[in-house]
Amino acid sequence: MAGNWKMNLAPDAGAALLAQLLPLVADATGAVDVVVCPPYTSLSAAAAALQGSDVGLGAQNCHWEDSGAFTGEVAPGMLLTIGCQWVILGHSERRLFFGETDEGVNRRTKAALAAGLRPIVCIGETLEERDAERVKDVVLGQLDRGLQGLSSEQLASVSVAYEPVWAIGTGRTATPEQAQEVHGLIRGRLRQSFGDAAADGVRIQYGGSMKPDNAAELMRQIDIDGGLIGGASLKAADFAAIANAARDVAG
Ligand code: 13P
Repeated sequence: MAGNWKMNLAPDAGAALLAQLLPLVADATGAVDVVVCPPYTSLSAAAAALQGSDVGLGAQNCHWEDSGAFTGEVAPGMLLTIGCQWVILGHSERRLFFGETDEGVNRRTKAALAAGLRPIVCIGETLEERDAERVKDVVLGQLDRGLQGLSSEQLASVSVAYEPVWAIGTGRTATPEQAQEVHGLIRGRLRQSFGDAAADGVRIQYGGSMKPDNAAELMRQIDIDGGLIGGASLKAADFAAIANAARDVAG
């Protein structure tokens, strides 16, 4: 269960949220990986606030080079140094607003893995693509190109997040059946490309208006292994309720 804070919560506000969150998820972390992904400038404060807890830390992007003249970018090794274990890559907001391509996502994914970070690789179709019945082509195309060239061993460190763009921040969640259908397609393609063990082991997270009142039903779907939570991760009680729902379903 990963909380994507997006461009919210400056260092003090982030640390305050984590102080509220930690006692509420102390049980859940025994059964579920709980991760928060603050904006870059809040990572240090979050790392300090998370000291001694089992809640993990992730960033929202990283570059593919180790260092150099790449203004505005952050290298995977820098994130590791600051205490991150995870990094979100290829979020639809990066793709839509900042020109992120599948090729870039692939390079970032390889670099993150090489540095020892665990990438959460995001894929998902727009409403137009769903209405045009192109979900399978779009989502599996993003999956294939994003993970191209990875070994089965590397896939074990990757988490795939299916986030239908029309469900993000809209309050319009995919139904559990709609989400499961696409998650099943994703796992099937991973099975073809990487083999049974890798496909069975990989986590496939759902993202898009996941809330306390729909989390359990989504998590009960056979191929939904977790969530990537935007808006609801900005409220400690809501994010904890989602993590605890995942714990209950897992247990
Ligand atoms: P919301 O939960 O706000 O719909 O955002 C989902 C998301 O984009 C997580 O990465």
